[in-house]
Amino acid sequence: MQHIRASVAAEFEAVNRLIVEQLHSDVDMVENVGHYIVDAGGKRLRPLLALLCGAALGGCGERHITFAAVIEFIHTATLLHDDVVDISTLRRGRPTANAEFGNAPSVLVGDFLYTRAFQLMVTLDDRDILRHMADTTNTIAEGEVLQLVRAGNPDTTEADYLEVITRKTAILFAAACYGAATLSGLAEPARRQLTDFGLNLGIAFQMIDDVLDYEGDPATMGKNVGDDLTEGKVTLPLIHVMQHGSAEEQALVREAVAGKSAAHLADIVGAVQRRGSCDFTREQAQRYHDRALACLQDIPPGSAKDALLAVTALSVQRDH
Ligand code: IPE
Ligand code: IPE
Ligand code: MG
Ligand code: MG
Repeated sequence: MQHIRASVAAEFEAVNRLIVEQLHSDVDMVENVGHYIVDAGGKRLRPLLALLCGAALGGCGERHITFAAVIEFIHTATLLHDDVVDISTLRRGRPTANAEFGNAPSVLVGDFLYTRAFQLMVTLDDRDILRHMADTTNTIAEGEVLQLVRAGNPDTTEADYLEVITRKTAILFAAACYGAATLSGLAEPARRQLTDFGLNLGIAFQMIDDVLDYEGDPATMGKNVGDDLTEGKVTLPLIHVMQHGSAEEQALVREAVAGKSAAHLADIVGAVQRRGSCDFTREQAQRYHDRALACLQDIPPGSAKDALLAVTALSVQRDH
């Protein structure tokens, strides 16, 4: 990761400083909860993408730095809300904010981060970016609701799954690239290509997240495994087992999904492994990785482009 950040190291530090600065509030609880999740770290992948896109297109100025912080604020807000909805207890190697402070502070401080992101964005005074981010955040909210509605439904299809992950996750990766391209003065067709890069990368990223929810190591990931099953979330590894498992395995998964229960997590992990369902999901992620790479063909060669290629590879090879 450090190697990948090298070409935008100073800008990356500036983004981190801006994030901390913008957490400021006169209301103590806002700062406490905000710092709690921000100080725990995280990969800062989305702001990194925005910076690398800017660098690959001729360089990052103050505006790219501000925009990168906006993206991370929105991401962090969705994490606060997501952990409440998912009743998750571990995030970034610590108890989640909802576990530490309760649901209400998490939801409300999530709102603070969301709205702070828009305050910051307004300072960019760019109508295209404002419109795109308004649409993006609206789509993310819809994606999370769609996921909620579909939770517990074992008949969820691959297409349904793809729709949810595109909306809840990939669209923000896409927006990180769109915003950077816009600030770099790219014309609409070229912006589109970079946006598609982010979209495909984001889909691959979420597919691997869904693999790690079954195969990951909580100590490395900083998140629990099995959270998706507890929520009755039908992700690609489960869809694969329900299509290719034995009758018994299919019934086991269908029941766990319908009952939103991780009581048989170990058996289901066994079925996932026997059927190669995580390998299948990794292969699908690799396809989106390849599509993402194809979108970078017009980016001029250089260290920033190399880093974009490396970030894309890392998104499917990662263990956290
Ligand atoms: C977690 O995103 C939420 C998903 C979209 C899977 P990250 O894995 O980027 O979380 P942090 O920011 O590194 O903690
Ligand atoms: C990520 O989905 C969704 C958003 C944060 C919008 P997950 O629910 O899989 O993310 P993690 O696994 O909790 O990070
Ligand atoms: Mg979650
Ligand atoms: Mg997950």
